Amino acid sequence: MRSSLVVANWKMHGTKAFAQQFTATFINALKQQDVGAEIVVCPPFPYLLPIAEQLRSRLGTPVSIGAQNLSAEENGAFTGEVSAPMLLDCGARFVVVGHSERRALYAESNDLVAQKFVAAQRSGLIPILCVGESLQQREQGLTLDTVAQQLLAVVKLAGNDLAQQAVIAYEPVWAIGSGKTATPQQAQEVHQFIRKQLGEAGSQIQILYGGSVKRANAELLFAEEDIDGALVGGASLEVEEFFSICRAAGVKRSTASV
Ligand code: PGA
Repeated sequence: MRSSLVVANWKMHGTKAFAQQFTATFINALKQQDVGAEIVVCPPFPYLLPIAEQLRSRLGTPVSIGAQNLSAEENGAFTGEVSAPMLLDCGARFVVVGHSERRALYAESNDLVAQKFVAAQRSGLIPILCVGESLQQREQGLTLDTVAQQLLAVVKLAGNDLAQQAVIAYEPVWAIGSGKTATPQQAQEVHQFIRKQLGEAGSQIQILYGGSVKRANAELLFAEEDIDGALVGGASLEVEEFFSICRAAGVKRSTASV
């Protein structure tokens, strides 16, 4: 059975003090109550190492570290870039690839996203591949086509390895940071489609939903068969709110295994 996974995407928010305080409070909350879900925290680059060190002293915590982006290159004259081996070296296990903000604001094409995905896997990081349609694409009935093209670019480069060590996040662009969540049915339809597109591997891979996930809507989203967890932006900056989302994801797993 696929385990539940909740990923915090802090984007470009916080300070070192915030990151450390959040981590300490969150780990203490987990000590009081195990949530039964895997959790990944993706802070801005400079806070990866301090958080990784904080977690290292807490063996047995279900929390891992992820980065929000990486270079497709391994090393060299690429000013300002950070490579997969560097992220691993700083304690990251996961990395977000192809977030819609990177695609839209930094012109990351499907091909570049695919290269980053492969660079992550080659180094042993688990890529969290984000896919999703814009509002215009949804209104034009192009949701599934858009997602299929985004997936295909990665499948072409990564081949059958795609699903072995990877996570997919379906994030409709119109739902990100807008307070408008996809309905559970809208999300489920795309999640099911993604699984089918991936063939045999599709049944194993964790597929997260992202876009204005909060305590109030998490449970209904996680009740859908093909939604294995969430990629959470805004609501991941508040410990209690984020903890509640993690708990809702864990509940899904425990009810599914009864
Ligand atoms: P949001 O962001 O939860 O604030 O909508 C999600 C994301 O961008 O990954």
